[in-house]
Amino acid sequence: MKPRAPHASSTVAIPPHGELPRHVAIIMDGNGRWAKQRHLPRLAGHRKGVEAVRATVKACAERGIGFLTLFAFSSENWRRPPDEVALLMQLFIGALENEVNKLHRNGIRLRVIGERSRFDPKIQALIAEGERLTVDNRGLTLTIAANYGGRWDILQALSRLSKEDSFREKGEIRESDLTPYLSMNYAPEPDLFVRTGGEKRVSNFLLWQLAYTELHFTDTLWPDFDAAALEAAFESYRARERRFGRTSEQLEEAKRAVIDA
Ligand code: IPE
Ligand code: IPE
Ligand code: MG
Repeated sequence: MKPRAPHASSTVAIPPHGELPRHVAIIMDGNGRWAKQRHLPRLAGHRKGVEAVRATVKACAERGIGFLTLFAFSSENWRRPPDEVALLMQLFIGALENEVNKLHRNGIRLRVIGERSRFDPKIQALIAEGERLTVDNRGLTLTIAANYGGRWDILQALSRLSKEDSFREKGEIRESDLTPYLSMNYAPEPDLFVRTGGEKRVSNFLLWQLAYTELHFTDTLWPDFDAAALEAAFESYRARERRFGRTSEQLEEAKRAVIDA
């Protein structure tokens, strides 16, 4: 069956946006440096990072955020030393085993994006089970990006689309042809992107979806990220003027028209 993408594209229509972001996407960076500052092994930083994930999921659920997407492991993170990769996999298994029931009790829907086939079958089974259990939940949708890369996502979408008969007949691709095949076809594009740890780059995260996302960079290392740091990101988001290509004057005019009506 052909997939669907129920949310409008920010380059085709002006998406609805309010005081709070509907979708927050976070690059959780700085675990290693957090540990190094304390003369601890990197593992200690990753462990503490899991606690920050818990706190952030809770805070987003309480604030009524619709979608939270967390970059947990990039397609390039396999380049790390094998023992660090093994350890991150162990932490991923632990989190899936211990947290999924809690997510379910809180009405949170779990989704995982990324190329799963490279993971151990045990991880693949835990992901499938977590998604199945929480599929009907209507609270926060928590997406974990694992073995995810933005370029991979666009390429896998294109390659699936190109197998469609309708694609071969038309010979032209519009956004609305491609987006149903992207791995986050169930979510609106992120309104707010946060990267902790001080680096100012996207590191192959959601390349397509970040077209009109507001970017927030903070020096806070991921293990120190908490509800207050999230609130500071929301505060910064509220102060932005999202123009989507239009002029500031056009936005003012539209506001006045609403007030006059
Ligand atoms: C983010 O923290 C966690 C992952 C990428 C898995 P890092 O491990 O990248 O921490 P730094 O950047 O070395 O401090
Ligand atoms: C990005 O962090 C990936 C995740 C947080 C999972 P990295 O620490 O891997 O990014 P670079 O290598 O500094 O760009
Ligand atoms: Mg890093």
